[in-house]
Amino acid sequence: MPNEGSYEAALRRSNEIQADLDVGKTDKYTMLTGDRPTGRLHLGHYFGTLVERVRLQNMGVNTNIIIADYQVITDRDTTEHIQDNVYNMVMDYLACGIDPDKTMIFTHSAVPAENQLLLPFLSLVSEAELERNPTVKAEQEASGHALTGLLLTYPVHQACDILFCKGNIVPVGRDQLPHIEVTRLIARRFNERYGKVFPSVDGLLTSTPLLPGLDGRKMSKSYGNAIAISMTEEETAKRIKKSKTDSERNITFDPVNRPEISGLLSTAAICSGRDPKEIADEIGMGGAGQLKKYVTEAVNGYFAPIRERRHAYENDLDYVKDVLHDGNRRANEIAEQTLAEVREAMGMVY
Ligand code: TRP
Repeated sequence: MPNEGSYEAALRRSNEIQADLDVGKTDKYTMLTGDRPTGRLHLGHYFGTLVERVRLQNMGVNTNIIIADYQVITDRDTTEHIQDNVYNMVMDYLACGIDPDKTMIFTHSAVPAENQLLLPFLSLVSEAELERNPTVKAEQEASGHALTGLLLTYPVHQACDILFCKGNIVPVGRDQLPHIEVTRLIARRFNERYGKVFPSVDGLLTSTPLLPGLDGRKMSKSYGNAIAISMTEEETAKRIKKSKTDSERNITFDPVNRPEISGLLSTAAICSGRDPKEIADEIGMGGAGQLKKYVTEAVNGYFAPIRERRHAYENDLDYVKDVLHDGNRRANEIAEQTLAEVREAMGMVY
C-alpha cells in the first residue's frame, strides 16, 4: 500500500475522480482553483488550466475561482495596479468561456469569513511543517524577496480558499501537490480535533504537458516569452518576430538541443491541433522566418474569437464589476455558513 502522501497515491486518486467525471458523476465534486492577479493571463494559463476549468464547469462540476489578491503581497511590497489586474483577470476568464452563472468568481479581500479560517487553521500546523514546503522555498528564492510571514503561511491560506466552500478537487500540476497535502492535513486535523466539518481534498492532475515559452524556457511574463490572451494580433506578431531562434536553417523539433525553435513549434502545434514534428517537416528549409509566420497565424487564428469576446467586456466594465460583486456576495454567504459550522464545532458560540 503506497503511503497516502505519495505521488502514486495522488495519481491513483486523481484517476479515480477522472473516471467518475467521465461517466457523469459530477455532483459530488466541488472544484476550487485560482490565480494571483499580478498581470494578464497568457497561453500557458490558457492551455494549462483555463481549458480544464471550462471543461469541468460545462460538465456540471460545482466550479469556483478565486482571484487571490492577498497572495500578491506574499513576495512584493506593493499593490500597485491591483484593481486593474483583477478586472482584467475577470475579462480573461469570461472571454475564455468561464460562465459566471455556473462558476463563482471572487477575491480574497472581499470575503472576511474565509480569511478568518486562517486563525484556527494556523494552529493545526507546526513551524517545521511550514518550513519544509518545497514550493514555498522555490518561490521565495525566485522572488529574491525576504521570506515574509505571509509567504511562509500561504499554503495554509490556500487551505482556507479550498475548504471554505468545501472544495474537494483542485486541478494542479505535479509541483503543486505539496499544497494539496497541506490542505488535506489541515482538514483531517480539524475534523479529528473538533468533529467533521471539512471534506477530503484531492488534486486533479492535469495530463497536458506544460507549454513552454517562445524561447523554450518556462513561460513567464518576466522572461518576455509569453503571449497574453489580451494581446492584439499586432502585439502577438511582434513578440513572435522578436523571439530568439538559432543559426541552423532547417527546422526540426528537438526540445533538448533546440529549445527556441521547439518552443515556437509547440506553440504552433497546440494552437493548430497539429503535431509539432509534422509542422517542422513541412517548414524544413523554409527557416525561422517561415516558422514565425506560421506560429503567428496559428496563435492569432485560435485566439481571434476569444479576443473578440474580450473586447466586448473591455467596453463594458460595469458588467465585469457586476460579475465580481455577485461572486463576492455568494462567496460571503458560503464563507459565513462554513465559519458558523467551525464556531459550532469549536464550541465558540456565545
Ligand atoms: N497560488 C495560485 C497561483 O499562484 C493561486 C491560488 C490561490 C490557488 N489560492 C488557491 C490555487 C487555491 C489553487 C487553490 O496561481
